Amino acid sequence: MAIPKLSEEKYQAIVAAYEKKTPLSKKLNEESRNYIVPMGAPAYMIWHRPYPLFIDRAEGSRLYDVDGHEYIDYFIDQGISFIGHKAPAIRKAIDKAMDRYGFHLEMCEELAIRWASKVMQHYPSIKKIKIVNSGNEATELVCQIVRAFTGKNKIIKFAGHHHGWNSVLSYDALAPGSGTLFTAGIPNNHWDNIINLPVNDIGLVEKALQENKDQVAAVIMEPLGYSTGAEHIREGFQKELRELTTKYNVLLVFDEVATGFRVAIGGAQQVLGVTPDLTCLGKPVGGGIPIGAVGGREDVMSVVGALDPRAEHFGPLFPMGSFCAQPLAMAAGIAFIEELEKGDYINNAVARAADLARGINEVADALKMNISAHAVYSVVHFGLNEKIDMSNVLDGYEFDLMIRLGLLMSDPGCVVLPGHAYISGVITKQDVAQSLKAFEYAFCMYK
Ligand SMILES: Cc1ncc(COP(=O)(O)O)c(C=O)c1O
Repeated sequence: MAIPKLSEEKYQAIVAAYEKKTPLSKKLNEESRNYIVPMGAPAYMIWHRPYPLFIDRAEGSRLYDVDGHEYIDYFIDQGISFIGHKAPAIRKAIDKAMDRYGFHLEMCEELAIRWASKVMQHYPSIKKIKIVNSGNEATELVCQIVRAFTGKNKIIKFAGHHHGWNSVLSYDALAPGSGTLFTAGIPNNHWDNIINLPVNDIGLVEKALQENKDQVAAVIMEPLGYSTGAEHIREGFQKELRELTTKYNVLLVFDEVATGFRVAIGGAQQVLGVTPDLTCLGKPVGGGIPIGAVGGREDVMSVVGALDPRAEHFGPLFPMGSFCAQPLAMAAGIAFIEELEKGDYINNAVARAADLARGINEVADALKMNISAHAVYSVVHFGLNEKIDMSNVLDGYEFDLMIRLGLLMSDPGCVVLPGHAYISGVITKQDVAQSLKAFEYAFCMYK
């Protein structure tokens, strides 16, 4: 089968057509460059070349750009708008909380208790919780918690697993083998306490635990693999890891910022049947308002704001935060979880993701294109061969191919990331059929 190639001439013609179709986005992008560094505003869409679409409004499963074009949204804010943009139930809850508390309230109020108990209802592994403002804060905090609890410094993470940009875990993130690629500004000796291992080899994890005897505080992972399953995790690996960490008295942390309340209401730990000691949550669980959280075993979590003889309510950890547990996030998060509980959003998203992946493979086969797709719950990954994953960020060719595919897909009206499509719970069968035509259009361009 042919490796898809897009001639430079064709690519330039496509860029010219895009510029003609989206002049206001182009103008706003140029203006933005005068003020904001490329990743200074929403970071992800900077992948979109030659410039990102600027959005005028969002509604349900759709985005509308400033030039008046409609798109099916397969980005959904990295899964955050999982039940659709401006979901009426969430909007109602936000309005109600705003009427009551204003825009923000850094005081105790009841919503945080209701939010936390709702989360725990679906995550039995969580006995106590600390609420922060982003997934990045949650994963940084969890490292402090495991170190404070165990008195040990080393943390095992897996190659390519992404836990945010914080200076504790951003080594070898997003793309396995990238090492310090995205970590300028962090001293190299900072990584002395991070043990970065390839996933799937339980023997290597055991070896690392033996070689670093009594020094490892925790193992942290994206439980379904980096980017929600862009890589394949061998069946049983997570269970083996659970057994091994228990045997060596090391904490197991699931970073469920991307998978929590999305792959299943109880996250990856529900579908895997594996109970971590600690869980990081974020993204959709604030109903679209910034949020992050760390929860887990009561004894471990007790290091956060535990009683310290020197100061009644502070320490040994002191994770303050002006916006922690903001009432709008709490209200929106509760409404989001309640919608998941009564609606069929997850089942629908998972079914539509399977339809889309199957359809992409059929289109690629019919065109004899060397592209394949696979669905992991509500996320579809696609790229060259079986090897479609972010490790190819390091292989400029495939990454470029996927970026160009994103541009091509926008012409017939779909917004996708390079190599990934996030499926929301409000995507319909008709949307999938329409999107497969868009994939066909895009793939034909490579001919
Ligand atoms: C698994 C995982 N952990 C942590 C983060 C960081 O979350 P946030 O973007 O809310 O800081 C992300 C973000 O993509 C993520 O996917």
